[in-house]
Amino acid sequence: MLDQLHEMEGRALAELAGHKTEQALEQWHVAFLGRKGALTELLRGIGRLSAEERPAFGQEANRVKTALEKAYEDRALTLKQEAALHQLAREQVDVTLPGRPIAPGFLHVSTRTLREIYDIFAAMGFQVVEAPEVETDIYNFQLLNMPPHHPARDMWNTFHTTHEGVLLRTHTSPGQIRVMLEHCPEPIRVILPGKCYRYEQVTARHEFMFYQVEGLAIGEHLTMADLKGTLASFARQMFGPERKVRFRASYFPFTEPSAELDIDCVLCGGKGCRVCKNSGWLEILGCGMVHPNVMRNGGYDPACYTGFAFGMGPERIAMLKYGIDDIRHFFANDLRFLQQFV
Ligand code: DAH
Repeated sequence: MLDQLHEMEGRALAELAGHKTEQALEQWHVAFLGRKGALTELLRGIGRLSAEERPAFGQEANRVKTALEKAYEDRALTLKQEAALHQLAREQVDVTLPGRPIAPGFLHVSTRTLREIYDIFAAMGFQVVEAPEVETDIYNFQLLNMPPHHPARDMWNTFHTTHEGVLLRTHTSPGQIRVMLEHCPEPIRVILPGKCYRYEQVTARHEFMFYQVEGLAIGEHLTMADLKGTLASFARQMFGPERKVRFRASYFPFTEPSAELDIDCVLCGGKGCRVCKNSGWLEILGCGMVHPNVMRNGGYDPACYTGFAFGMGPERIAMLKYGIDDIRHFFANDLRFLQQFV
């Protein structure tokens, strides 16, 4: 019996050393130490031993049981540690791998165009000033020589708010009044960039939000010649020194006389094409001499001071410059479009 016990112990230990999985370990435990396992089997035979042999066998069986339990625990622990080491090795970070590059950001084509405009006007002494996007009817229309019900208001489809008389500015022109009231009677040379909003059906040529750059110069001897020189110079710096320019008579309530500035078509050079609708000319901005009423509304005496003003859309300018055929591209946030202007 003792021989059998020792043979079983030897076999159990040998088998245990070969087991590599938790499942195999459990099966081993059942086979040797379980309720129907080898050790229990042997203990059942104790009855066949003589009274003198029994205590020694019992003691030895207990030692074997403890030894096997201990061996089992040790093996289980070893397996666990091996698994952990394995996992660590597998999950090791290779610090020598090349990093993932962070894609650098870039400027939006509207921002780039705005900055080009700032640079050109800065060189001619114009400062950049900002004005509110949420405006009142008074600044957006009335002080610009458009009393309530003035028909010229139809030129701007307006987003009104639930506050009576408060609206989203339809153009940057109300900024003219704000700058005048702040600086009168000093001379002024500013550009006012910013977003404008219009209650428009969005199409290839119309957005409900877009940028404008307003310009305003006020002094004691400014004439239409100053307006023409300044804006012709701007157009040639923006679109190329070879550009022809023409001032075409127009109407705005806040200027008198008013004009629109055209350049010869950048695409066909004036021969006529799809972009210039066969006219040979592209309209790039509106302008004029500041109306005496607007002068007065800004605190300047029109008998002593004159001024010129202009307003342009940088998106429109970028469209003409880069041949973009749809204004909706600008704020659709499609990188395939935006990345072309890096
Ligand atoms: N505010 C005009 C518009 O949105 C543009 C404009 C025209 C501005 C003539 C001016 C100007 O300052 O003199 O259509």
